[in-house]
Amino acid sequence: MTTSIIIFGASGDLTGRKLIPALYNLFRKGRLNGDFQVVGVARSVFSHEQFRSNMQDAVKQFSAENYARELWDRFAEHVFYVPGDASQPDELSRVLEFVGGQEHEAHNRLYYLSVAPNLYPTIIQNLGSCNASGEGSGWCRVIIEKPFGTDLQSAHALNDVVHQTFDESQVYRIDHYLGKETAQNILFTRFANTIFEPIWNRNYVDNVQITVAESVDVGHRAGYYDQAGVLRDMFQNHLLQLLALVTMEPPAAFNATALRNEKVKVLSAVRPVDLNDTVRAQYADYLQAEGVAPNSHTPTYAALKLYIDNWRWQGVPFYIRSGKALATKTSQIRVRFRRPPTTMFGSNMDDAAFGPNNLTFCIQPDEGIHLSFEAKVPDSTQETRSVSLDFSYAESFGECQIPEAYERLLLDALQGDAALFTRSDEIETLWGIIDPILKGWETSAAPPVAQYERGSWGPVEAEALLARDNHYWRLGCNPGNGS
Ligand code: BG6
Repeated sequence: MTTSIIIFGASGDLTGRKLIPALYNLFRKGRLNGDFQVVGVARSVFSHEQFRSNMQDAVKQFSAENYARELWDRFAEHVFYVPGDASQPDELSRVLEFVGGQEHEAHNRLYYLSVAPNLYPTIIQNLGSCNASGEGSGWCRVIIEKPFGTDLQSAHALNDVVHQTFDESQVYRIDHYLGKETAQNILFTRFANTIFEPIWNRNYVDNVQITVAESVDVGHRAGYYDQAGVLRDMFQNHLLQLLALVTMEPPAAFNATALRNEKVKVLSAVRPVDLNDTVRAQYADYLQAEGVAPNSHTPTYAALKLYIDNWRWQGVPFYIRSGKALATKTSQIRVRFRRPPTTMFGSNMDDAAFGPNNLTFCIQPDEGIHLSFEAKVPDSTQETRSVSLDFSYAESFGECQIPEAYERLLLDALQGDAALFTRSDEIETLWGIIDPILKGWETSAAPPVAQYERGSWGPVEAEALLARDNHYWRLGCNPGNGS
């Protein structure tokens, strides 16, 4: 049985930075073995040798700590490259002929679409017309990169095209945030322990903040980014997926169907977002970036307040924010609990003197979980101070490297586990939350596009969004650096 992994768009950034290093690491760990081939496909003309050498450089750069020459040489024997434009049926058949020529009759196929998103429909249709999507001689799956559509309507249309060629069970829509070890750990923290779940609801949780901050700016991706903006680039997928992991009900089983059912259920309960609860902004010199339209309104930062209309979360605000060119790179979720109803320790209940408990999931870069609680200051009569119980991945699992998200996700796709991939109804539900905001931002009711300084924590309008509710943005992983 041969397993073929065919990467369309193999000359692109993602292949060298993430996909080949991930496959190399799976090979290194013995999780990708036996009769397999990795076939890169793109329009650029390379020989097998040139492609291998480019990929070797990529692994040296992006997985330096795991690179070993002898191991690479063994892996490279499985790596091939076929120049071709997969959106042209005759060129795709030539590619598939090459792939087929190296396979046993019984074979599995994993297609990876890492091409420009406007090519997804054509390539998928071409795979269908070349009879290359069937499962007669082994399994056949397709991984589709983000963005999956640009709004609800286009995502729905793309789902239709996909389903004309592939059964939903063959489709793996990737969101690399779900492959992050620490994002998965949200489910384990919640459902492998008994102490959190009883307090995980509106009776004990005051508000939840999700911050996905990036220090990089739009860089050389300005052309794409100016069309997309932060809501499509980060919220529709990564931030709302994190929201779903924090808020979903416990699934009855740890499998793809049960997990995704629960995610869809909670995402469907997100209340339509009030435009007054949205902030959009650009970093100061965004309009000067090459590829950005002169009067672009595309936000590089957004902050939203969301509510979830179900029993568990009724009335609890969820504040979510993300942006480029911010002070630091960090992704974290902070669950802030209610204050005690009364205190006998002095009357001052402001945050400085008496903080509420917070549980913070630090997804990156310093992976861990932190619980803040009040303790008595020694040698005082009734002074309290917030202290922290800290779990750090590096300290607890020191010897065990945290794998890259793509490594985990590629392995899951090879093993047929779709739990960490987005289902067709789920992707449409996600767009259903974002679409009305995008449309509202095109009307006169939209908040103006605010500005923020590079290296800051975003615009003052985002502070005001929380201040209205007597809240403020806070980070748990680098305290004091929050807003
Ligand atoms: C991608 C976005 O999906 O996620 C990028 O398109 C963003 O704009 C990236 O930079 C962030 O991912 P990570 O893993 O670096 O947080």
